[in-house]
Amino acid sequence: MSYQAEYSKSINTPDVFWAEKAQDLAWYKQPEKILSKDENGIDRWFADGELNTAYLALDYHVENGRGDNIAIIYDSPVTGQKRKISYSALRDEVAKFAGVLKSQGVEKGDRVVIYMPMVPEALVAMLAVARLGAIHSVVFGGFAPHELAVRIDDAEPKVIVSASCGIEISKVIEYKPMLDQAIEKSAYKPSACIILQRPEAKATMIEGRDIDWSEAAAHAEPADCVPVKGTDPLYILYTSGTTGKPKGVVRDNGGHAVAMKYSMKSIYNVEAGDVFWAASDVGWVVGHSYIVYGPLLAGCTTIVYEGKPVRTPDAGAFWRVCEEYDVKVLFSAPTAFRAIKKEDPEGKLLANYDLSNLRTIFMAGERLDPPTYHWTMDVTGKPVIDHWWQTETGWAICGNMTGIETLPPKAGSATVPISGFNVQILDPDGNELPAGEQGAIALKLPLPPSCLPTVWGDYERFRTGYLTDYPGYYCSGDGGYKDEDGYVFIMGRTDDVINVAGHRLSTGEMEEIVAGHPAVAECAVIGINDPLKGQQPIGFVLLKNGIDIDGKQLESELVALVRKEIGAVACFKRAVVVDRLPKTRSGKILRKLMRQIADGQDYTVPSTIDDPVSLSVIEDVMSKNGLISE
Ligand code: COA
Ligand code: AMP
Repeated sequence: MSYQAEYSKSINTPDVFWAEKAQDLAWYKQPEKILSKDENGIDRWFADGELNTAYLALDYHVENGRGDNIAIIYDSPVTGQKRKISYSALRDEVAKFAGVLKSQGVEKGDRVVIYMPMVPEALVAMLAVARLGAIHSVVFGGFAPHELAVRIDDAEPKVIVSASCGIEISKVIEYKPMLDQAIEKSAYKPSACIILQRPEAKATMIEGRDIDWSEAAAHAEPADCVPVKGTDPLYILYTSGTTGKPKGVVRDNGGHAVAMKYSMKSIYNVEAGDVFWAASDVGWVVGHSYIVYGPLLAGCTTIVYEGKPVRTPDAGAFWRVCEEYDVKVLFSAPTAFRAIKKEDPEGKLLANYDLSNLRTIFMAGERLDPPTYHWTMDVTGKPVIDHWWQTETGWAICGNMTGIETLPPKAGSATVPISGFNVQILDPDGNELPAGEQGAIALKLPLPPSCLPTVWGDYERFRTGYLTDYPGYYCSGDGGYKDEDGYVFIMGRTDDVINVAGHRLSTGEMEEIVAGHPAVAECAVIGINDPLKGQQPIGFVLLKNGIDIDGKQLESELVALVRKEIGAVACFKRAVVVDRLPKTRSGKILRKLMRQIADGQDYTVPSTIDDPVSLSVIEDVMSKNGLISE
């Protein structure tokens, strides 16, 4: 089938299209209601189907003769460990750990927070939660105790699963003290914490609350899979919005499993037995979808890589892993390739490795800039495919469906809409814009399977955040345009969300933290271009009257504050003092204009500006501090 025929069918008869795709899974009860409305009037998929995602990811393959196939390859250059786990061994490990959780009272619908580094046990914990029909919420290891506490309070987990430490380049990050601090800060307290002790750091256990993973698993009774409804949640994954409170994106079991299975063949063109490597982290949506669920639902081998693209030990790390395990598809963020390019600009290290089994490189998480696209293609000789997606969707909205029909790529474009996503470019009044004109990217409802049906515990936030700007559409928060051939170009966020090294962060949240410093009267945090990480956050700070503080001193205090509250991953490293901020007459800070100045773009001064001189002031400060891109 051609891409166009496949796509048109998905848009014209979505229920027929997805009913067919759902047949590809071994449901306990096949769904009859394919598309229906919930109590909020939201479109839901497969409401009356019954399944268990962990069963489909593990037991199903064992029952179908793939028990000896490798499910997980763990490769950890930071510890020197390597391990292969077969489907049957993983199924047994997951069933036992589900038994551990069950003995702690975890049941269908309960939440379990998972705060873990990139070790196979992180996947075991996720799958064990899914096996019980409970709901996991994985928190990225780079987040600080405050961020973890906010998520604990929102998700209210019965149990938290964590590890004694994670390992970054040449440093051990102790997770357990951060977990303890988070629980101290949170109003909600879990009844138990299950801790994986790693040899690199021994966690001090709290009597009566903390349980040693290995000891508990050694005595556990394996637990069976619990059937759930298609619309029962599989997980909550928190993502940055425009405020300090992250949004709990809810993912259904049924729609997610159908979309994951479909995407593995139609987008990535892999089959059972193929090795699929998403070089990301289980704490992000890419990790959920394509380190854990997608590859396992498809019977592939997934790689859990505890390392970086560079410095573990060098810029040949990705190529080494691809050769060693016959990786067929590699998926990472453009930042990773920019980091490799920086250290090995001519790709000389590639000569040490045989990449003949590597077929395609996919990238997502941030805009794939044409120089990185061309460089990666030139040095590897492999097709490079950009695809655009969000935590909210769980899979690609636009991309090149290589398992259906590979379309000619265009540098700078995420290619075309994926099946089920009716992508439109709208003007501020909600009218569709013609080719070539830039506007808000919106998705006409219904959204396809896997997309969020609500924000955890806050339907109103879901409705006002995504559905009210353009009635009948989901507003993506990204801007861009389509060309004459229908190719979609994603040009960046239209809100205060930024992307640093493929990590989605909220400048609004950083502003709340910076504004909390006693010397700060007002501030604006904006994301400016960064040659390695895509964007980096910069704070512009107005001091309170009468405050006399050295700019460098204040900067280091603010940097430390953001690091303490959000975590190192925020990469907040610069804050400069200004004596005025450009604002509209109604007092709104003109952040977009500031971004345009820093990025060296053309801009028009809005007629509503309060004090036009403030623009030259800010430009001057940016220029003196080397913040303006060439
Ligand atoms: N646990 C604890 N700390 C973490 C962490 C984790 N899981 N991940 C990152 N950090 C820390 C880092 O150690 C670093 O701390 P530092 O400021 O003390 O050095 C900080 O957070 C910033 O991390 P990062 O932005 O990742 O920078 P880096 O210099 O360590 O690595 C890259 C840069 C480009 C190599 C790295 O960002 C990368 O591999 N990116 C790939 C993209 C990716 O995985 N995106 C995920 C979505 S697809
Ligand atoms: P996250 O929810 O962390 O996956 O981040 C989603 C955001 O990352 C999107 O809204 C985009 O702003 C950005 N993004 C992801 N993939 C791409 C891409 N291929 N091109 C441009 N931006 C992207």
